Amino acid sequence: MHLLRVQVPDFRGLKNIDITFEKDFIPKIFPLGSQNGGGKSTLLQLIFVLLHCSVDDDKKQFLQNLLQGFKVADGEEKRVLALIDIWDREKIVKLEFYCRKHSLLGDIFLEDIQPENLIPLCNYSSAKQSSNNQEQNTELLLCGFNLLKNNEAKLFLDKLSRKIFLAAPSTQVFLFLPLDFRKLLFSNSSKEDKNYYAILESTRSKLNGLFTYDFLAVKLLIKSFKDARDRDFREAIKTGNYGNSYQALINDLNRLLGNKRINLNEDFSGVNFQLYNNGEAIELYPEDLSHGELKRLSIYIWLKSRNIKDAIVLMDEVEIAFHPDWQYQIISDLKEWTPSNQYILATHSYALCEALTPAHVKEIEPKLIKSESNITNES
Ligand SMILES: Nc1ncnc2c1ncn2[C@@H]1O[C@H](COP(=O)(O)OP(=O)(O)OP(=O)(O)O)[C@@H](O)[C@H]1O
Ligand SMILES: [Mg+2]
Repeated sequence: MHLLRVQVPDFRGLKNIDITFEKDFIPKIFPLGSQNGGGKSTLLQLIFVLLHCSVDDDKKQFLQNLLQGFKVADGEEKRVLALIDIWDREKIVKLEFYCRKHSLLGDIFLEDIQPENLIPLCNYSSAKQSSNNQEQNTELLLCGFNLLKNNEAKLFLDKLSRKIFLAAPSTQVFLFLPLDFRKLLFSNSSKEDKNYYAILESTRSKLNGLFTYDFLAVKLLIKSFKDARDRDFREAIKTGNYGNSYQALINDLNRLLGNKRINLNEDFSGVNFQLYNNGEAIELYPEDLSHGELKRLSIYIWLKSRNIKDAIVLMDEVEIAFHPDWQYQIISDLKEWTPSNQYILATHSYALCEALTPAHVKEIEPKLIKSESNITNES
């Protein structure tokens, strides 16, 4: 799957966005830059939620949360949220996500709207607060598409929802959390502050495409070892010879860790790292690794343990905690670890961009903070 083009006319801070991620570019890694507040995180979250949450009923609440405040004006026939073109290696599927008022459709229920080339996704309320505490669904989100018939389109959206991933810092405000919970991150009370992370944790279990970097990757690390062991064993059953997945994983990890060697407890209960210092071996544990080492390791393990291949991977602020050399290096890491994925990396890092051609780097127009005339008038 390849995200070819995204257009967002007007969503929160995003205005007239039109970005093409060329399908023939090698590597398929696209930095996305802007000034602070330019809308990078908003754009990644919007793409992720639309593509990850549109088919599964359990995930529709995240669409509804995202759409709070996205109002269709009285008399407006429809309001386009996003146009997303996907290249599935055979054809370009164009998805149009747009909203309508219920009233324009009369008393028709969501389930009854089934014209060709259109899938209703969810009802939502654009009101930020409902007056009588009762959820009032006044708007509808729909998805129009070309080429496919409705049932093919549902299958396509379903496949796409399993091929889209978002990685971001947990300190990021996630627009798909309910509004009240988003506020918790900035609440004065440390108890409530903890709640934000608890809610994010439970959200992560529902949004299986979401990953936050601060996650200590030990569980995923052990899962990767077990999966590799099982693959090798299955190979032995099939061919009589054990595969080399387990050894390949160890080799990859040792290459990634530089001067340390990874050891897995025999009972798969944990891992440690041997650091060789002047001929002497020191035993280290995951908590002894540096912030940057842990982050690099956790990204690798996330990609491997989730078997993320042929996917669209959106990563926000990937460079945080990395020295400029590692910001540059992360491009070849991603290329080497999982070459079949497309990556869109929201970033402020020049070092990261320098690892690619200038044409790979996409920009959201920086907002004009002060016009020259303002400055002249003030001075
Ligand atoms: N409803 C809204 N309408 C217009 N602008 C909004 C709305 N909600 C938030 N914004 C603005 O959108 C911006 C948030 O964008 P976002 O977090 O996506 O930026 P960013 O490019 O990721 O920034 P950073 O590099 O600092 O992470 C802020 O400037 C905020 O003021
Ligand atoms: Mg951001």
